[in-house]
Amino acid sequence: MTTRIRDVRPYGEDPTDLYVRDGLLVDAVDEPDETVDAGGLIALPGLVDLHTHLREPGGEEAETVDTGSAAAALGGYTAVFAMPNTDPVADSPVVVEHVWRRGREVGLVDVHPVGAVTVGLEGTKLAEMGMMAASPARVRMFSDDGRCVNDPLVMRRALEYARALDAVVAQHAEDHRLTVGAQAHDGPVAARLGLAGWDPTAEESIVARDVMLAATTGARLHVCHLSTARSAEILRWARETYDVRVSAEVTPHHLLLTDTAAEDYDPVHKVNPPLRPSADKTALRRALADGTVDCVATDHAPHAVEAKDCEWSAARPGMLGLQTALPVVVTTMVATGLLDWRGVARVCSEAPARIAGLADQGRPLAVGEPANLVLVDPDAAWTVRGAALASRADNTPYEGMEMPVSVVHTMLRGRWTVRDGKVQTDDGTRSAAELAP
Ligand code: DOR
Ligand code: ZN
Repeated sequence: MTTRIRDVRPYGEDPTDLYVRDGLLVDAVDEPDETVDAGGLIALPGLVDLHTHLREPGGEEAETVDTGSAAAALGGYTAVFAMPNTDPVADSPVVVEHVWRRGREVGLVDVHPVGAVTVGLEGTKLAEMGMMAASPARVRMFSDDGRCVNDPLVMRRALEYARALDAVVAQHAEDHRLTVGAQAHDGPVAARLGLAGWDPTAEESIVARDVMLAATTGARLHVCHLSTARSAEILRWARETYDVRVSAEVTPHHLLLTDTAAEDYDPVHKVNPPLRPSADKTALRRALADGTVDCVATDHAPHAVEAKDCEWSAARPGMLGLQTALPVVVTTMVATGLLDWRGVARVCSEAPARIAGLADQGRPLAVGEPANLVLVDPDAAWTVRGAALASRADNTPYEGMEMPVSVVHTMLRGRWTVRDGKVQTDDGTRSAAELAP
């Protein structure tokens, strides 16, 4: 079966036809079995998210591998990394294998489980990293995300193991001693609202420490959701000064929103790390544009209504991200002239695939490459409604906001996972409403 994708604009450049057969991009054929008219649409390699909370096992009231995979496909993703802060924690081969198998059964995106660094995310005893790496899930990224590996000796040992496994340690950089009770970025907004301040040094001091540990061990470090100008400066300096293997991600919400969002006291704006002042936001956009920050990762963090619909200090941190990430990147980076569509492909697909060591994702749109694609309508604006998103949860910070571009089709290894904005499954099309009852 050969599919022709007609008149599509790869990376936003001149229109051409792409041909797909047996899961690969192939040379033009005379009589394709299927032709999809993609006039006006932009093709990018399928997006890769290094930081997704799918909540399975144990948090199924907020998200499942099924609903999270659907949200990912609808957002243009072909691979996601599922964070291990589940219940039970993904700190053993059994749990990572379960998540990996569920991902395969659902089949909408490649689900790669991230293994915990420490047992139970408790920060003291290293988890069975080698066993998780050797499991069928082939774990190559480890993180205690949600919590920091705060103890420097534990972090050093984790990096040493990771180096031996050719894996990467993704650090949630937050010195917990500096954030006890913290609720919002430590500044005038938090002071006015009476919310306990969250010292940005909590992040920056761990980033500084960990680049040193990465330099010492020669291991690969990835900094999760980098959120301050000074964190970016530390990376810039470390790379210029040492031969250090470090990468970093920024979230769409830290590129778009600022700490003033908390002024409505709506915990939908509570997130870890917290939203920062405008100067940090501007610095993060620049750092992403110049490559200091390698990639965008969603930190998609669905929460059940009772965890969010409560007073600020009791609410759990986190926001939905999978279905809004690409439009937010377009708003913050493309519409501002900081990135073109090739740049979007770099930060949303190529760089994350490289960091995670995926051979078949984030590849160029070229003959012989795997047909992992997203087709975007750059002129189709839409309004965000949490209830209409495929996630089980509806804690989007963008409720009612207009997004400038739409994902129209997504293809995973030559199979449509999304057609005309609808999820495709073996037993037919599903609307977002059916997915999130
Ligand atoms: O806001 C956040 N939510 N940040 C994290 O690090 C964890 C995440 C979650 O699991 O809800
Ligand atoms: Zn985190």
